[in-house]
Amino acid sequence: MRYDLDQVPEPIAYKLLAATVIPRPIAWVVTRGAQGVNAAPYSFFNVMGSAPPTIALGLMAAPDRGFKDTALNILETGEFVVNLVPERLVQAMNLTSADAPRGVDELALAGLETLPSQHIAPPRIAESPVAFECRALSSVVTGPCQTVVIGRVLAVHIQDRYLKNPERAHIDTDALDLVARSFGSDYIRTHDRFDLPRPTWAGLQAAGKV
Ligand SMILES: Cc1cc2nc3c(=O)[nH]c(=O)nc-3n(C[C@H](O)[C@H](O)[C@H](O)COP(=O)(O)O)c2cc1C
Repeated sequence: MRYDLDQVPEPIAYKLLAATVIPRPIAWVVTRGAQGVNAAPYSFFNVMGSAPPTIALGLMAAPDRGFKDTALNILETGEFVVNLVPERLVQAMNLTSADAPRGVDELALAGLETLPSQHIAPPRIAESPVAFECRALSSVVTGPCQTVVIGRVLAVHIQDRYLKNPERAHIDTDALDLVARSFGSDYIRTHDRFDLPRPTWAGLQAAGKV
């Protein structure tokens, strides 16, 4: 079966992409705009590079409101915090995804405490084990009220208890207990790991494989 995506309705295109590109990490994004502080989860999210350190977010249109509040605030201010989501915070994260009217502070709605950021105006979520302070490097409007934001990561906050060795940035990844999104309301835990060392050309030659 082949789907040509300019021939199918948008919900079909969405399903084909979002039900196959899994698991997706979740960026719990806090912004501050003219209407105050805003929080919402975004799973079209990943790291894009480390020199400079960059992340990307995909913000689709809201069916009834045009740009989502997160997109409006980032386009206006260029500033946002990406908080990562452990399993214990999934209910609060989910609450902040509600289609609340503009100006509603979803952090207050979900009973979440915040801490000030160092470089930017939006605060971070105090309970989140990891938070990235970001400034937009570039924002591309990819469709009607749909945007991809590339953010430069200015600072990483990580709770001390998850650092095995702060000097070397050895992180207790398992203890972070982060969740990822599958399709719809399905989520995936990040504990089911296996080890696969990367080959080198020299190693392949030594083993007579090339
Ligand atoms: C786990 C999760 C991941 C989501 N990922 C995205 C996403 O990547 N892009 C998007 O446009 N909406 C995504 N949403 C929906 C937004 O969170 C939702 O539309 C929210 O109301 C937007 O809030 P805002 O207008 O305050 O930015 C996601 C929702 C959940 C629960």
